Amino acid sequence: MTGGSERKLVDAVPTPKIELDGVAQDFSLHGNTLPVLRGVDLRVHDGEFVSIIGPSGCGKSTLLNLIAGLEEPSLGRILVDGRQVSRRLGTVGYMHQKDLLLPWRSVLDNAVLGPELMGKQRSQARTSALALMEPFGLEGFERSYPAQLSGGMRQRVAFLRTVLADQEVILLDEPFGALDALTRVGMQEWLLGLWESWSKTVVLVTHDVEEAVLLSDRVYVFTPRPGTVKAAFAIDLPRPRRYEMVTDAAFVEIKARALAALREDEAPAGAGGAATSAVLRTEVSQ
Ligand SMILES: Nc1ncnc2c1ncn2[C@@H]1O[C@H](COP(=O)(O)OP(=O)(O)O)[C@@H](O)[C@H]1O
Ligand SMILES: [Mg+2]
Repeated sequence: MTGGSERKLVDAVPTPKIELDGVAQDFSLHGNTLPVLRGVDLRVHDGEFVSIIGPSGCGKSTLLNLIAGLEEPSLGRILVDGRQVSRRLGTVGYMHQKDLLLPWRSVLDNAVLGPELMGKQRSQARTSALALMEPFGLEGFERSYPAQLSGGMRQRVAFLRTVLADQEVILLDEPFGALDALTRVGMQEWLLGLWESWSKTVVLVTHDVEEAVLLSDRVYVFTPRPGTVKAAFAIDLPRPRRYEMVTDAAFVEIKARALAALREDEAPAGAGGAATSAVLRTEVSQ
């Protein structure tokens, strides 16, 4: 029998906000099976900021679709708050890789779509949205339509819409991909400030290792398709974080290790999805 103190320890381990166990996803393509994800085990704790990096086509967007409940996995299970819910759709905020703005709605009306669909008060949602137009670089464009905006601006409207949906879990699929370098850094800093004053759980998909390290508590590196977890890094850099930290020795070191894991060309370690060389696999405090 286990002692009382041991029992307490077990109880003290918090339930992850998001948990993926042995998740695999196949698609069928011209009658063939396309394996996209294999043996993905992943934990995201409440209030944590976790990034996923991996080569193009390795299944990152598919992974977010699964977490959001847009698709069901071919194998494995996905738990949110410890429950396996098939109807996750609408309970997490999700910013797709494509901006998915409604062309007939203005910037403001696109931004408030989430609260509106959730039946929240429209005037309150508009007031919150208007207050964020300036930090999102959309001031003066409130009444413009998506076709009148640059790609970067459309992305910022989609990001604003996701933030305003105000869900506990936020999934961001390459949210800054279409932005020029300067705007990108501005938005990263803005997101850092927002998240540090927030209690949200964020899963960010990005191609940008520096962005992943700067923003995250942990970074998962995926293999090429079929994607599986190749390495995971705890980013123990102090918070609050500032963009200037990217030149600090500790930052440069962890970025180099994440890059090395990403570039390591070895095949995934098998369907179990266990990772890679012990050297590159820094702790994984799941
Ligand atoms: N609904 C689908 N049907 C068939 N193939 C798909 C579907 N969605 C994605 N894929 C394929 O799965 C692979 C992974 O896609 P994706 O998750 O978008 O990768 P990433 O976001 O990492 O670039 C790609 O080869 C893509 O063509
Ligand atoms: Mg993608």
